[in-house]
Amino acid sequence: MSESIVSSPRSRSFATDPDRVLLAIESTCDETAAAVVTRDGRVLGECIATQEKLHEQFGGVVPEIAARAHLQRILPVIQTAMQQADVQGHDLQAIAVADRPGLAGSLLVGVVAAKSLAMAWDRPLVAINHLHAHLYACQLSQPGDESVYPAIGLIVSGGHTTLYRCDSPIDLVYLGGTIDDAAGEAFDKVAAMLSLGFPGGVEVSRWAVKGDPTAYDFPRGKRNDGTFDFSFSGLKTAVRYAIVGPGRQDFSSIEISDQVKADICASFEAAVVDVLVRKSRRAVKQNRVRRLLVGGGVAANGCLRRELAKAADEDGFELVIAPPELCTDNAVMGAIAWKQIERGQFASLELDITPGLQRGF
Ligand code: KG4
Ligand code: ZN
Repeated sequence: MSESIVSSPRSRSFATDPDRVLLAIESTCDETAAAVVTRDGRVLGECIATQEKLHEQFGGVVPEIAARAHLQRILPVIQTAMQQADVQGHDLQAIAVADRPGLAGSLLVGVVAAKSLAMAWDRPLVAINHLHAHLYACQLSQPGDESVYPAIGLIVSGGHTTLYRCDSPIDLVYLGGTIDDAAGEAFDKVAAMLSLGFPGGVEVSRWAVKGDPTAYDFPRGKRNDGTFDFSFSGLKTAVRYAIVGPGRQDFSSIEISDQVKADICASFEAAVVDVLVRKSRRAVKQNRVRRLLVGGGVAANGCLRRELAKAADEDGFELVIAPPELCTDNAVMGAIAWKQIERGQFASLELDITPGLQRGF
């Protein structure tokens, strides 16, 4: 396990103020993470245990394997983050945990760990919405800067593709989201079809650089439908047809050249980015806001970052994207819990998980 744990103290020299630190725990999908963060967004301790190697052979996250791995890692990960920060349980102002949305078994491990520690150390508990936390990661590049609101928030991750109007880090109004696959899920599936490895997003974008984005005219689901919803399943099917042809399921006997692979990746990436950029800039315009916040694993994608920057330039809005290391799942973005603490939004020790979210959250 040790080789998969990455811990990176970002502020070791800072003298700990025991009244101003909280422990944040993240276990919604396949990263087990803990961080000790100050009220003003400094990271005193951080530890992430990744599970990529465990899921690689399946081409996607296997929920039962993820839950079991979280169980083995959660306490060492928390311990590492707290040791780095040089804090004890009684130093913490609160314990925050992502309780929604995510894989049920994965969420359960984090929530039960947080509740147990809150009880043992007699500390208050804060329940974090993982999607709101992904958007809060944008703000962590500009600590303490509340001037980014109101804004449109775009979350593009392995499980979600959602647009919100954000009036504060914790006041979000749902505008639209995917009606089938998430953008990151589509990247992962395309990578699996082309045997590019897991997680697929990084691999597909690496191949896309060598390809022609106009080689295939892949469908742009719901591009012009006037809503803020997304659909990527038709695109996924079109990629499948481009690889094996209609009606065939078996990828094992297919041999395609590296150039065709690269062209498929580039054309697929262009189709995803096209719809994400188009709907985001329309949301900014229609809501008359001046900023777009973008978070989630797919926000690390270079092509998306470039095209959004171009759109921001043309339309005259400010683009705030989470730094690449805070796009994928981490516990540092759990610093959003401070905003909930300011409002007195604490959870009870009866806290339960909420794996799925209803439209509107
Ligand atoms: O936010 P995240 O870590 O987990 C969820 O909350 O789902 O996002 C993971 C997703 C995966 O689907 C991964 O393939 C995708 O983000 N991803 C990328 C890139 N880096 C990660 N997709 C496209 N381009 C990337 N550079
Ligand atoms: Zn996530």
